[in-house]
Amino acid sequence: MKIVTVIGARPQIIKAAALSRVIKNNFSNVINEVIVHTGQHYDENMSQVFFDELGIPQPNYNLRIGSASHGRQTALMVEGIEEILLEEKPDYLVLYGDTNSTLAGAIAASKIHIPIVHIEAGLRSFNKKMPEEINRIMCDHSSTLLFSPTQTGFNNLLREGFSANTKMPFTADNPGVFHCGDVMFDNSLFFKDVTLDKSKILTDNELQARNFILATIHRNNNTDEPERLNAIFSSILRISEDFEIEVVLPLHPRTSKLLVKNLDSDLYEKIQQSKRLKLIPPVSFLDMIALESNCKLIMTDSGGVQKEAYFFEKPCIILRSETEWKEIVEEGTAIVVNADENKIFAAYDYFSEYEGMSFPSIFGDGKAAEFICETMLTNG
Ligand code: UD1
Ligand code: UDP
Repeated sequence: MKIVTVIGARPQIIKAAALSRVIKNNFSNVINEVIVHTGQHYDENMSQVFFDELGIPQPNYNLRIGSASHGRQTALMVEGIEEILLEEKPDYLVLYGDTNSTLAGAIAASKIHIPIVHIEAGLRSFNKKMPEEINRIMCDHSSTLLFSPTQTGFNNLLREGFSANTKMPFTADNPGVFHCGDVMFDNSLFFKDVTLDKSKILTDNELQARNFILATIHRNNNTDEPERLNAIFSSILRISEDFEIEVVLPLHPRTSKLLVKNLDSDLYEKIQQSKRLKLIPPVSFLDMIALESNCKLIMTDSGGVQKEAYFFEKPCIILRSETEWKEIVEEGTAIVVNADENKIFAAYDYFSEYEGMSFPSIFGDGKAAEFICETMLTNG
């Protein structure tokens, strides 16, 4: 069986590592994977570092599309992916998540009738102003095999008309939907132990285990709307001062660029001068795992980092108006605070006193990637 995998943004490279690893270890005689990088992310620390560190094969193709408006970026990717699919003639196109690279893959493959496998299917924010919400809906509804990481995602698909009772052979008109756990959970289990030995991120940044906050911010509305960006950074600064705690912020390049433009100048100045706020470039995945597993608490608007907070049993403050990962809020380990300064502060205050949280298993058994490979093979 030949599959073409399309990746482009940081989280997709990381997710793809789980499947590539399982193919290499268990299915190398029956699955041939061809990797296409759209080039949506291109800085060394947003792309290449993950190939080096996670042992993913180098992409067979790199379209080098880079940054552009949504329409232009997606259109250029569709053109490039179509050409490759016509050349490679794979049995499946494998897509991850909800980025413009995902959407481009779905458009290109569905037009030329190549069956699509969507990993991380069914997630919904019910907020169509998010570019990701449109991307994931379009991808789900053109897929042949849909793999949902959570029960909520699976239920969302059933509500949208997918059936849990379809039988093989699955096709785009008779899709198979599965609740199989999360490939990111597979990864966190696999890399957790490797990290302990390798990462120097804590010592490099003079951080003490269990005594710092990890924060990541990159959602387009949080970075592009000055009011939201100011509220988030102002509360992070206030928490660091009032609770005398350090905060490490590996900044997405989008955020670094927009901090200068959208933060009030006096707040920007205070943040630059604060000894407790450590604004650092994006970190590698193993460094990120070291930060996640050693911090006291995580504040984030990232989809992946919310889940990793749960994997590493840390409370999480979600800097968004809603989340696709409803389960972690229902378990009481995460709170949705939007970009509301008072709510952010109150959530930190609550978690800093709270002991005895539990993190029951909701993201599978660490074998999602194996299940996905087996299902692709069985469907032929
Ligand atoms: C994209 C995804 C988002 C995902 C995120 C993961 C879409 C619509 N959004 O958002 O769902 O959560 O990736 O990180 O696909 N930039 C660089 N260097 C890079 C990459 C980006 O400087 O290597 C800067 C550019 O100024 C660019 C901006 O970041 O314009 C945004 O990049 P883009 O890929 O368009 O969207 P993300 O915000 O990264
Ligand atoms: N990540 C990383 N280094 C960083 C920030 C994030 O390796 O500096 C990892 C993180 O551990 C997770 C993934 O990137 O696995 C999440 O990607 P991101 O937050 O960019 O996107 P999202 O998940 O919101 O789509």
